[in-house]
Amino acid sequence: MKFVHVTDLHLVDPFEDLWGLNPYKRLDACLTDIASHHGDAEFCVISGDLTDRGELDAYKALRKRLDTFPMPTFLMVGNHDDRATFIKVFPEACLDDQGFVQFEHRAGGVVFLFLDTLKGEGSAGAYCEMRCAWLRDRIAAAGDTPVCIFMHHPPFDIEIPYMDRIKLEDVAAFEDALGPKANIRHIFFGHVHRPVFVNWKGISCSALPAICHQVPLRRDSVNSRYSDEPPMYAVVDVLEDRLVVNADCYMHRNDCRMPPNKR
Ligand SMILES: [Fe+2]
Repeated sequence: MKFVHVTDLHLVDPFEDLWGLNPYKRLDACLTDIASHHGDAEFCVISGDLTDRGELDAYKALRKRLDTFPMPTFLMVGNHDDRATFIKVFPEACLDDQGFVQFEHRAGGVVFLFLDTLKGEGSAGAYCEMRCAWLRDRIAAAGDTPVCIFMHHPPFDIEIPYMDRIKLEDVAAFEDALGPKANIRHIFFGHVHRPVFVNWKGISCSALPAICHQVPLRRDSVNSRYSDEPPMYAVVDVLEDRLVVNADCYMHRNDCRMPPNKR
């Protein structure tokens, strides 16, 4: 089975730029590209930071754009989101018994778990005991079925100090809730605004650049806190013996100058 991973939209008003970039236009181009090249994907997931400031109009703009996007799309919250405003605009959002935006989807013989790591203050992520209890139940219910986890904040350092200061807190509790991890195939995360691949305690993990601004690998490589590196989405194929993540720079994919016999 195949699905698409998108992360960190940071939407503001559709007519407003953020750090000199227009997140809405970048999202529009992203969804148009996915629809035209990967319409056979079973679903799309957007792993948090749907908006930059949690504004009502930004969520409404997302809702309006998704109305014409031809595949089921799972929305998660990140530290830049406002959970209550998100739920107001997306009242059909799946919540756990405690009101966190946590849910499960089963497809292609895989259990997909979507976690809510929004702390509500600061930029770091939280995973409290109530959320851990939900995760523990879902992992137990999955039994031997392969599990893929989506979470906005990574539970590990990625060796970029700026991001490592604001990763998931409560890592020990989160890891305890995961249990022995035997059937966890992959963790997809956002938040770091970079293409990053990690093997954490034997679990493969991947992140993507944001749809809007990026976090430079070296702080001193640009003269601003953020950088304008290409946005990407990822196409994920979950196969019998492999899980393949292919990232695509949809706004920077141009023809090469080649003679006709090489085309
Ligand atoms: Fe973000």
